[in-house]
Amino acid sequence: MIKRPLRLRNSNVIRSMVTENSITLNDLIYPLFVIEGQNKKNPINSMPNMYQFSIDKLLFEIDELINLGINSTLLFGITESKDKIGSNSFDKNGIIQKASREIKKRFPDFYIITDLCFCEYTDHGHCGIIKNNEIDNDLTLQYLKKQALSHVQSGSDLVAPSGMLDGMVRAIREVLDENQYYNTPIMSYSVKYASSFYGPFRDAVDSSPKFGDRKNYQMDPANSYEALKEVSIDIDEGADIVMVKPGMSYLDIIYKIKKKINIPLASYNVSGEYSMVKAAAEKGWINENLVRNELLLSFKRAGSDIIISYFTKDYAKDLKNI
Ligand code: PBG
Repeated sequence: MIKRPLRLRNSNVIRSMVTENSITLNDLIYPLFVIEGQNKKNPINSMPNMYQFSIDKLLFEIDELINLGINSTLLFGITESKDKIGSNSFDKNGIIQKASREIKKRFPDFYIITDLCFCEYTDHGHCGIIKNNEIDNDLTLQYLKKQALSHVQSGSDLVAPSGMLDGMVRAIREVLDENQYYNTPIMSYSVKYASSFYGPFRDAVDSSPKFGDRKNYQMDPANSYEALKEVSIDIDEGADIVMVKPGMSYLDIIYKIKKKINIPLASYNVSGEYSMVKAAAEKGWINENLVRNELLLSFKRAGSDIIISYFTKDYAKDLKNI
């Protein structure tokens, strides 16, 4: 037989020689949740092995992550002082600001990416400032600028706006440049679907909208060409990295976008995807590590350069046989 694909599969050596995709820790970003207080490491029930850390405990966690070879985080802040406009998110002494300063003091090279949004900081749980029961897009941009600047001044290395507001990347680029932060990149949640896969995350940060839903600003899961529009707008506005979220059910979107762009593409392996694998593994129905690796590979194969995943720490431990 002239064509026999099996020839390239019959030993480990040849298989790894022809492998097309692999996951390294350089591609993975590990989300962390930080809370007020001291000596706290609260398990998140709906996300096994994930915790809310007070800043002192977070520093221990980061020390462990660095020893495992993990070099970046996507940081989410959780505060009890919520109000209408999410003031804590742009307060010099807000939770993210305090945490970022402490992390940078101890671990200057650990790369901090901060999520820019309002849902964790507003009493109504929406991703912006509400006027007449709706998010006022353009007014929210003014507050988003304050939030971005304040994060970067406190040590954030890269900001990741997740609110799906029109004009958010341009607004942030403007304020960063005006303040000489020319070199701080923006990773935009460009394509964020109104997804039910975020359920466990909303438990983790207590950010469920108190009225309505997010369909007015997040994308309809039925659409795919609209994703290309969102990405091209964000690139024009100055995004350095674009993101697709969720990932697992949206691999076609990742693939389509990757074919069209020439900047790095990130995808977010979200909380519901993580917790489904954990739950099935707990029941003994699947092999967690193998399913996890296959899942992460599928993101790569589809075209993600970067993967944000709660599995990062498990994956790093597995690499070291811990
Ligand atoms: C918004 C934000 C959300 C997630 C990341 N940033 C929640 C939302 O849009 O409702 C979800 C992440 C996940 O499910 O893992 N700040």
